[in-house]
Amino acid sequence: MKTTNQYYNDNAQSFFTTTVNVDVQKLYDRFLPRVDNHGKILDAGCGSGRDSKNFISLGYKVVAFDASESLVAMASEYIGQQVIQATFSTFKSAPADFDAIWACASLLHVAKRDLKKTFLHLSDHLKTNGIFYCSFKYGNTEQVRNGRFFVDMNEQNLKDTLLSTQLEIEETWISSDARPGREAEQWLNAILVKKD
Ligand SMILES: C[S@@+](CC[C@H](N)C(=O)[O-])C[C@H]1O[C@@H](n2cnc3c(N)ncnc32)[C@H](O)[C@@H]1O
Repeated sequence: MKTTNQYYNDNAQSFFTTTVNVDVQKLYDRFLPRVDNHGKILDAGCGSGRDSKNFISLGYKVVAFDASESLVAMASEYIGQQVIQATFSTFKSAPADFDAIWACASLLHVAKRDLKKTFLHLSDHLKTNGIFYCSFKYGNTEQVRNGRFFVDMNEQNLKDTLLSTQLEIEETWISSDARPGREAEQWLNAILVKKD
């Protein structure tokens, strides 16, 4: 069976084309007011670089990474700065280097048994009181769909996953998929805050 990373490498051009212009302003509206002006944002699993490009244009400092070599090349060109090729578990920077982490529709590819340690590893890079946005398809299963592994999450799963971490759920909400024709797909969105 092909891995999720192979899927993104094999389908990088079509994935880039279909996601780079998706309008996620409603998500920015929940996230950006909580991030200091000119703060530093980590775009974890940045895909096309759509969100990094927007954050940079607004004056934020951005570090972006993605596991897919092909998407890293495309996103680097698109955002005009080098995107790092790394996975959620191999990404490294100075501790507490970021004001915010943006993980839009990306942690949904991490197996449930690995999610807690992935949140812990990423949040090591977040300042105290820093903000962590993440989103998952709404549900309660793990499965491979069309060549990609997905963990679907609901409010309770997320709460259980974050038990005994410094990440506190500030807000969750459900949204419809922003891609035309896919409005019936529901997403769980969450804003987390790193506590002392
Ligand atoms: C559904 S796409 C979302 C991309 C982008 N954040 C967006 O909202 O359009 C998931 C992204 O996560 C990346 N990804 C999947 N597993 C990853 C991992 N273990 N570490 C880092 N990135 C990963 C994929 O390469 C892909 O770019």
